[in-house]
Amino acid sequence: MANAVKQTVVHAGSEHGKKQERVPDPCIVVIFGASGDLTKRKLLPALYHLEQEGLLPASFAVVGVARRDISATFAADMEDGILKGGGVEADDPKLKKFMDHVKYFTTNFDDDAGFEKLKAFLANIDNMLGTKGNRLFYLAVAPEYFADITDRLGKHEMTTPVDAEQWMHVIIEKPFGTDLESARKLNDDINRVLKEDQIFRIDHYLGKETVQNILVFRFGNGIFEPIWNRNYIDHVEITAAESIGIEGRGPFYESAGALRDVLQNHVMEVLSFVAMEPPDSFESDAVRTEKLKVWRAIDPIQVEDTVRGQYGPGRVDGEKVIGYREEDRVNPESNTETFVAMKLSIENWRWAGVPIYLRAGKRLAKRVTEVTVVFKQPPLRMFNANETASQVQPNVLKMRIQPDEGISLMFGAKVPGPTTNVMPVEMHFSYAESFGKSSANGYERLLLDAMLGDGTLFAHRDGVEATWALMTPILDQWAKRPPTDFPNYEAGCWGPAAADALLKRDRRKWFKL
Ligand code: BG6
Repeated sequence: MANAVKQTVVHAGSEHGKKQERVPDPCIVVIFGASGDLTKRKLLPALYHLEQEGLLPASFAVVGVARRDISATFAADMEDGILKGGGVEADDPKLKKFMDHVKYFTTNFDDDAGFEKLKAFLANIDNMLGTKGNRLFYLAVAPEYFADITDRLGKHEMTTPVDAEQWMHVIIEKPFGTDLESARKLNDDINRVLKEDQIFRIDHYLGKETVQNILVFRFGNGIFEPIWNRNYIDHVEITAAESIGIEGRGPFYESAGALRDVLQNHVMEVLSFVAMEPPDSFESDAVRTEKLKVWRAIDPIQVEDTVRGQYGPGRVDGEKVIGYREEDRVNPESNTETFVAMKLSIENWRWAGVPIYLRAGKRLAKRVTEVTVVFKQPPLRMFNANETASQVQPNVLKMRIQPDEGISLMFGAKVPGPTTNVMPVEMHFSYAESFGKSSANGYERLLLDAMLGDGTLFAHRDGVEATWALMTPILDQWAKRPPTDFPNYEAGCWGPAAADALLKRDRRKWFKL
């Protein structure tokens, strides 16, 4: 299988050090579940951005597969999605050419005859366009179909390359399991058909530039890494706050909740980048090994160190909004959490004794994802002669994942004047100012990497199981003790009071975002 990891060359002198990527081999991207929102809103715009950047092979096609026959409207619908994704003119001749290679195929996911016909349909495209039998299957379907579809792909010999040049890769969307047992079973099921290096478990947070930049910031600069440890860091906070509610996804969210939906995957991935040791390269195995070491070094999380919450009615951005229990297709007595916070500790030489506080939730005061690293207080004795001591704040490094992507460092400065007054000031780097606005949605990079066979920015079997091993005991204990105070926060605030109490216990406060 031509699974060789691509060479990413960074040309120091090129525009903003922009990467020069290798273009993937000719191939067909086959999207199962193509009638869903993700295909139109994210995947097609991302593929077209790759085309605009010249990063797609000349022989290329996209085939949407779903159970409903929407072949008459599919292409127009996808074009609409691409235009809405931005950065494209409707009369762009490249777009017309690209759309000529966007096809649709209808089949049920348990229909053997349908899969056989799909196989022939794809082979026909190979003959017409020269896509050489290479496939990127994207499973954008509900999780209960993951194993069935992979099974059928295997059964109809659609995942076995005929020679060393050909490749078949499969991207699997989240959620990858709902607890440790189901994740293990899913891994077993798909590993029966696919080799681990054919599987790309997507976590779109890893496609975000700002998340990837955590590693560059830490390891590509000389001044931060020496102080990135328990000798200098007081604690770390990671917040993934959303102001939106569940956006009509009642049935999905009822069975998920904030811990499964965002914390077990997106937040834990970000944490692994913040906390890992330097890998010996940015290749898949090296990065995956270091991530795994972080998750495995986390002490079992105590239920007393967790907080769950559910939003009631309130106001977001001045607008009245309903509570979670009033949302469409949500049980009016639901105990599903829409907020989670927890404290954990990584018991290794770098992090022992440094509390890590995580929180994620819906209908919070604003949309902001940030890593906040709070350094230890400097000695204050020399300031004791006046009241300045209380004004001296610890240094804080803020890595803003979104929006207003950037990095800030807060430090104390002397307020001009005859007395020694100190005020916290900020040094700031903004992505938009330095690099201009990007229309990338995170999926570009991940789709490209999956075509190239580079698994660095994807979740792996052992990693997924390690994070579920940490979270499953909490879910079990929560299930045994249903909450008695839901809804316990008003939409539009920063979550339940218990989340503040979690830090107050340690004489700390969530950093104001
Ligand atoms: C998804 C969750 O994985 O991530 C959603 O299912 C959540 O509930 C979304 O809203 C957040 O992604 P982003 O990129 O908007 O932060």
